[in-house]
Amino acid sequence: MTRRQGIKVGDIMLYAEILGNLPKMARDEVMAMLELAGGRIAGQDYLFLKLDADGKAFPYLDRLGLSHEYGELILEADSVEELLRKAGEVEWPVKGTFKVDTETMFNCRHDVRDLPRKLGAVIGAQGFRVNLSKPDTLIRVYCGEGLYAGVRLRSFNPKEFEGRKAHYRPFFRPISLHPRISRALVNLTKARTEVLDPFMGAGGILMEAGLLGLKVYGVDIRPEMVEGAEMNLRHYGIRNYHLRLGDATKLEELFPGKRFEAIATDPPYGTSATLAGRERDDLYRKALESMYSVLREGGRLAMAFPANFDGEAEAGRIGFRLVGKYYQRVHKSLDRYFYVFKR
Ligand SMILES: C[S@@+](CC[C@H](N)C(=O)[O-])C[C@H]1O[C@@H](n2cnc3c(N)ncnc32)[C@H](O)[C@@H]1O
Repeated sequence: MTRRQGIKVGDIMLYAEILGNLPKMARDEVMAMLELAGGRIAGQDYLFLKLDADGKAFPYLDRLGLSHEYGELILEADSVEELLRKAGEVEWPVKGTFKVDTETMFNCRHDVRDLPRKLGAVIGAQGFRVNLSKPDTLIRVYCGEGLYAGVRLRSFNPKEFEGRKAHYRPFFRPISLHPRISRALVNLTKARTEVLDPFMGAGGILMEAGLLGLKVYGVDIRPEMVEGAEMNLRHYGIRNYHLRLGDATKLEELFPGKRFEAIATDPPYGTSATLAGRERDDLYRKALESMYSVLREGGRLAMAFPANFDGEAEAGRIGFRLVGKYYQRVHKSLDRYFYVFKR
């Protein structure tokens, strides 16, 4: 992390390591952030992404929800021998002491057992000192089809996300998405300034958006949710919010003349009283129409639907274009898709 300040902005390649449980969604989240930063994904080897982006992407990569870490990519190789040879030819951007760590991915096809020691010796020969317990610079080697060595710039502490899970919030409702997923939904909308959640519940999605510095707008049909969401937002230091008691199928009335940059939401699935007496599919259709009418041209909507509702067809009928669709099995009786649509 300390290295980031000194890093050159041009002439570098980056990498990201995504989480394994929703890999397509995680990859597309990285892609969305790079689109905002003016970069692109240049290659993928299982959970390792090679990024054609430079230091301008850091503030966007810092937003990621479904990644383990990102860093500067130093070299790629097709064999351990090639990796060690190339490692002797590059200048390693080590600050202070270092340590080599290998990440043996599921598809790793190289023998990397002794690699930390061998690569450590090559880098050590450039005058850097190893510190295994508290290194200043962490060199990461990923083994998949190929081999990739880089310098970690930021790792996302899972405890930070875990600490915002539903039962740690002052206003607790067990209906919330995992904070990492909420974060990813916000990012998949490519929001730069604001996000609306018309079924905000306890405000989990808005919390993640607010922590990114976005202005958040929320709606819920139940007064206790509006109060609770506000309590949660304030608890996490978020002040730039606008919450309304109201109906997600009547957004034009709630926000007259307003066109939102982005919408991210998780509607009720009809498994409890959260449908507020409405027929589920009818609620979804009317909410989609209402969201379409308050979303700016080109704006994105990221949302979940249970798998037995054809979100793609229903949103398409209204005029939304599908950008991404990701399957998740939640438990025995609930599976869902996350969708990203563009208006
Ligand atoms: C699944 S929860 C949302 C959870 C939220 N995304 C979170 O992470 O905390 C759905 C919410 O939609 C609200 N709701 C149900 N029908 C609604 C409607 N017609 N308009 C607005 N909100 C509604 C429910 O009161 C409930 O709080």
